[in-house]
Amino acid sequence: MSLLTRTHSRPTIAIFDSGVGGLTVARAVADAVPGANLRYLGDTARLPYGTKSARTVVRYAVQAAALLLEQPADALVVACNTASSCALPELQARWSIPVLGVVEPGARRAVAASKTGHIGVIGTERTVQSRAYHDAIGELDLNVTVDALATPLLVGLAEEGWFDHPVTEAAVRAYFEPWLAQAPDIDTLVLGCTHYPALAAPIGRVASELLGRPVTLVDSATAIAAEMVQLFGQPEGRGAVQILATDELERFARVGGRFFPLESTDMKHVELR
Ligand code: DGL
Repeated sequence: MSLLTRTHSRPTIAIFDSGVGGLTVARAVADAVPGANLRYLGDTARLPYGTKSARTVVRYAVQAAALLLEQPADALVVACNTASSCALPELQARWSIPVLGVVEPGARRAVAASKTGHIGVIGTERTVQSRAYHDAIGELDLNVTVDALATPLLVGLAEEGWFDHPVTEAAVRAYFEPWLAQAPDIDTLVLGCTHYPALAAPIGRVASELLGRPVTLVDSATAIAAEMVQLFGQPEGRGAVQILATDELERFARVGGRFFPLESTDMKHVELR
């Protein structure tokens, strides 16, 4: 992907997620391209997406993107893995700016990192059922084996701020023990949900311990941030951050503040229909 031609010097990157988790992606993008303006929408009123049907997720994603793009933006990042898994083609068909999901960049990193050719993916129920990571990885290398596991409990633990907490470690262990016993060749693990980069420490530790060797964690937040650098380069200065949320802002600020420094951001409540 090459640098985009724009009529203004500071790009605006619109980022959409089902809630606060996508702030891990916003943070990675803000760190990688601090000169870009960020406009973030968290659809907190309708969260979680991960347990909904694909049809519902597509409908929600289209409505959220439409609202977010009422003001001009130079790219739309679908930070939510669930929405990226189900709704990306529909969003790309409707808007002419670059619309990027997190699945493909994560898949690319995982394929590049794996030496055994066996990749694990963890995400929501909908992301796992969609087989989006299987498809994206299969397009890159047909010889790679993919094993995906839904680990929905981890979302709540991340929102609680229990990033490296004994309860989180126990939950990761309960999920991973039976799973990794059947997939001992996994050497690369995709954190296929917005919240999971915050839990990288216990996830990496437990996976490495159970497999008896270091496991590479692929964080789709960092992967998409690298794509933004490719698109926009490094504009000078510091951009503004605007946050939109569909449910009350108090909880958004309290929980979201664990993922992104929200003190000096412009926050606004919006309604989606
Ligand atoms: N943002 C979702 C994802 O990355 C996790 C939370 C949800 O289920 O809505 O898949």
